[in-house]
Formats: sequence, C-alpha cells, structure tokens
Amino acid sequence: MVFRRTAETFTPYSMTLPAEFYNSTEIFAEELERIFYDRWICIGRASQLEPGGHFALKIGNESLVVARDSEWILHAFFNVCRHRGSLVCGEGTTHPPGLLRCPYHGWTYDVTGRLVRAPAMEEVPGFHKEDFSLHPVAVEAWEGFLFVNLSKEPQPFGEAFAPVFNRFSRWGIRGLNVARTIEYEIAANWKIIVENYSECYHCPLLHPEFSRRVPFRSGRNDLFEGPFLGGFMDLSQDFDSLTVSGRMCAPRLEGITGDDVNRVYFYALFPNMTLSLHPDYVMYFTLWPLANDRTKIKCEWLFEGQSLARGRSDRDDAVQFWDEVNRQDWRVCELVQQGARSRAYGPSPYCSTESLLVAFNQEVRKALGRPAS
Ligand code: FES
Ligand SMILES: [Fe+2]
Repeated sequence: MVFRRTAETFTPYSMTLPAEFYNSTEIFAEELERIFYDRWICIGRASQLEPGGHFALKIGNESLVVARDSEWILHAFFNVCRHRGSLVCGEGTTHPPGLLRCPYHGWTYDVTGRLVRAPAMEEVPGFHKEDFSLHPVAVEAWEGFLFVNLSKEPQPFGEAFAPVFNRFSRWGIRGLNVARTIEYEIAANWKIIVENYSECYHCPLLHPEFSRRVPFRSGRNDLFEGPFLGGFMDLSQDFDSLTVSGRMCAPRLEGITGDDVNRVYFYALFPNMTLSLHPDYVMYFTLWPLANDRTKIKCEWLFEGQSLARGRSDRDDAVQFWDEVNRQDWRVCELVQQGARSRAYGPSPYCSTESLLVAFNQEVRKALGRPAS
C-alpha cells in the first residue's frame, strides 16, 4: 500500500512542506544557524529595560544579555564569561541596575559588556582587562520592540526592515504599554505556528466567535511576498474590535481613522514575530523554538496609557478573547505536529486562501538554501 503522496501527484497546486521540515533535528539545527542566529529576532519591549538594567535570555542554544546604560543606550552581548566560559547571568529575570558578576571566579562586567574587575589577574603578565569584554551582539529598537541579531555581520536593521519600517506608525506602537503577558509552550514546530497564524481557512470551524467578528473572506492581503506577510480583515457591522464583548475595550488609538476604524491587521514578521493591530489595542507574540517539535510563545497586549495594576480591567475583554483563540490554535498546531510524524503525511495541496503559507515556506527554503525540487 502506498501512503505517501508525492509532489508529482499535485504539481498544479502549491504544496505543504515535506515532513522532515517539522521532524528533522538536522533541519532544526540548520534553522537555528541560518535563521535564528542570522536574522533580526524580536525579544520583547524596550520599556522592560531601565537605565543600568539588564536581563538574560536564550535564543536556541545561545544565551545573551541585553542591557541599557545610564545614557539610555542599548547594549547586547553573549552571556559567556571571557574567563572559563561560565554563563554570567541567570535567564528570564530583569536585574536591578548594577554590574554583572560571574558566579564562578568573580570576573565582573559593566552594562556595556566591559570587563571592569578580574580578581588576581594583575599577576598575569600581559593580561589587559580591555581585551576581554563580553562578545557583542547587535541590538536595535523599532516601534518600542527590541531586536537582536547574533550574526558577526548583521544586515543593518533599517535595511532588513525597510519594507515595513514606517508601515505601522499610525498605531503609535512605540508609545504603547504592556497590559498583559501570557506565555504558552506548544508541542509543535515553530513553522506550524507561523503557518497557522497566516491563514484563516480554519477560522469558521475553529474560531466561530472570531469569525462572527471578522468574516473569513473579508479583507485582503497587502504584503504577500518576502519576509513580511499579512493583510487585514474587516470587522462585521455589529462589532468594534476583537474582544469577548465585541466592543472596544479602550479608547480608539489616536492615529486610527478612516478604514482602519473597522479593520484588524495581521502580520507575520520573519522569523519570530506576529503583529495583530486592532483599533483600540495591539497584540503581538514572539516565537522561541525550543526543539523541532516544541515552541514557546510569549504573547503581549499593548495599550495606550500606563499598565494597569493587577486585577480585572476592561482590557481583559481583549486578553480573554485572544487567549481563547490562541489556545484553539495551539491545539490544532499540536495535532498537525503529530500528523507530520506519520508516514501518511503529505506534502499536500494548499487552498487558495493559504497563499501566505506558500510565501512563508519559500522564505524558509530560501534561508536554508533548500529550494523546492
Ligand atoms: S568563568 Fe567567569 S570568572 Fe571564571
Ligand atoms: Fe486561528
């Protein structure tokens, strides 16, 4: 019995990626090397860093520190001590202003990455502290988001992001604040999650409440090639935003006028960021590949005005709405990952409403130097 459908069977159609793109640990390692260690990766909001502050994070197998000095200048470096290579900072926490002291022998760095103290090393002839700064990493802020690039020769951020650099200015994202953060861990490859975000073919069945607010055939794509993909959907007449109530849960964002009042925009920014723009708030998430079949998602809701104190607020109307939609999505992403492990898995034909997935798959193949045969 022949289970496997071959590409030849479906040449008139665009096809889903072969199973190895979701299952192979070799391809996953290649993706880390050629995508996650080579492209600009969104790591969160710039507002999480006070002057003098720093935090550590992990991208793939690499540990980094991102810091802001007293002049508000951003710095990033590998979190690897220049003595014997211990990690200098613990991950996931924002530290108070100060120095970074390695827990092993106490070599100490300032927030620009410079080595300022190396106990007893003055006894070592020819040793100069200035030769042993932490290895730098490129860091940029755009629209209030922080990005890092681990490449030794990073493409300038302005060049890489030129197609969208000013595209979202009317939402005033730089001035928005994080009202809520939710992290999810999903048993699926990171690409399955981007693919799910980039089509609404599944919406009528999977998200009936979402589909009442923004009918699946409404709107159109306006970025459909290259690393940045997406478009808008129209809000139905009886709804003002994507919330549980269907009403806006905060005042309309200042720059939103005309057609934007009745639209929600959705963009996937290669490789690890999505941006969902509503009349009254912005939601974005970052993807963190943990393994070929495991991904962490950090989802944040951004609003005008200061973050609210803990407890229920009107903004929960948006948070609850998306938290539910997100969980519906993660469930099917996990089902796809399980199916992709089967010998009966595709490649299979995409629907015409999945054209952004074809473009995304091409971008992945291009980055990996693995063109479709
Ligand atoms: S490894 Fe960091 S001080 Fe020795
Ligand atoms: Fe969905």
